[in-house]
Amino acid sequence: MLDFTFYNPTKILFGKGRIAAIAQEIPTDRRILITYGGGSIKRNGVYDQVVAALAGRTTFEFAGIEPNPTYETLMEAVRVAREKNVDFLLAVGGGSVIDGTKFIAAATPFEGEPWDILAKRARIQRALPLGAVLTLPATGSEMNSGAVVTRRASQDKLAFMHPLVYPRFSVLDPSTTFTLPPRQIGNGVVDAYTHIMEQYLTYPVNSPIQDRFAEGLLSTLIEEGPKALATPDDYDVRANIMWCTTLALNGLIGAGVPGDWATHMIGHEITALHGLDHAQTLAIVLPSVMAAKRDNKRAKLLQYAARVWDLTDGTEDGRIDAAIAKTRDFFERMGVKTYLRDYGVSADAIPALLAQLKRHKLTRLGEHQDIDPAVSRVILERCLAP
Ligand code: NZQ
Ligand code: ZN
Repeated sequence: MLDFTFYNPTKILFGKGRIAAIAQEIPTDRRILITYGGGSIKRNGVYDQVVAALAGRTTFEFAGIEPNPTYETLMEAVRVAREKNVDFLLAVGGGSVIDGTKFIAAATPFEGEPWDILAKRARIQRALPLGAVLTLPATGSEMNSGAVVTRRASQDKLAFMHPLVYPRFSVLDPSTTFTLPPRQIGNGVVDAYTHIMEQYLTYPVNSPIQDRFAEGLLSTLIEEGPKALATPDDYDVRANIMWCTTLALNGLIGAGVPGDWATHMIGHEITALHGLDHAQTLAIVLPSVMAAKRDNKRAKLLQYAARVWDLTDGTEDGRIDAAIAKTRDFFERMGVKTYLRDYGVSADAIPALLAQLKRHKLTRLGEHQDIDPAVSRVILERCLAP
């Protein structure tokens, strides 16, 4: 096992009706800015529960944080936070609202140009405290210190991480997810699946705890994901998915093991240039990365094939091919298409995607830093069509 530091201060309030508990988590004298997206929370009763929980408190609102939250929109929220002297942020929504709120938390007290937090990794010394009410299980943002923000004007989709932006608490009430459209159920499962794979499918470092934990999470998504589409009113299915997606990216399974993250980095460029949903890009890129890096990842691919898909017969290459095919088939069963062609993106798009990777200095990706632009080209070519 590799050396690691594990730190995760986020308190999780899990279960039906837990939104009411936010009252105890936010000090009564705080000036709270409630942030949310395009209005799903107004249609499913989550907004009403938040407002009821915070009755009598000083609250302000900022609505309209879009999927793949933009710097342009978030800077409007920073202006509101500064103007109203806000000293607590409450994000209510999916990963985009929570990520966007982390940026607002860091940008509000930041002296200088807040875009530098993303583009130049400028040092953050302070951040407003934040809490979250999660309504879309997918990103793990509710229990991690990362955030991804897009600058619309320059088509940059960049991430930052900082311990000061861990949510102080996150409410995970599975019943808030009943109103998710099938597309977002599928997206959430594929995103979390890929988070696990990026931390698991590298090379062995004798880490049986992380491996067994990752395999358990993958198997849970394979079992529960299709049930969420088939029986959307099943609370237990929603609960299992919600806790699984949080554990997929809260630092636990990634501690002490190498990480890949090439699929995410290439996927972010596809979203930046072509507007695909985050998880759609992962469903396209992950099977290609598995195939293109099969030699480096051979030992873990065989372990994945055997333990997650029960593939133990035949040649090594046959088992690896079957495991990649099963992965792709699972994403398709979750309603997420796995080729660029399915989204109307053709081979002409590849040069611009490679140029974006170079511009963002993403030229040494993967657990061995050996995914250079030539390998990224091979990966993207495999993404085009069967
Ligand atoms: O905006 P509203 O009206 O709320 O609607 C949203 C949005 O349209 C809707 N939705 C959310 N909860 C709902 C609901 N609709 C009905 N019922 C509910 N309960 O779903 C749509 C998508 O929401 P979004 O927040 O964009 O999705 P997701 O949670 O998948 O977040 C994606 C973003 O997270 C980033 C991605 O890059 C992307 O920008 N990521 C963040 C990570 C992190 N912080 O660690 C890691 C991930 O790898 C990822 O990169
Ligand atoms: Zn992701």
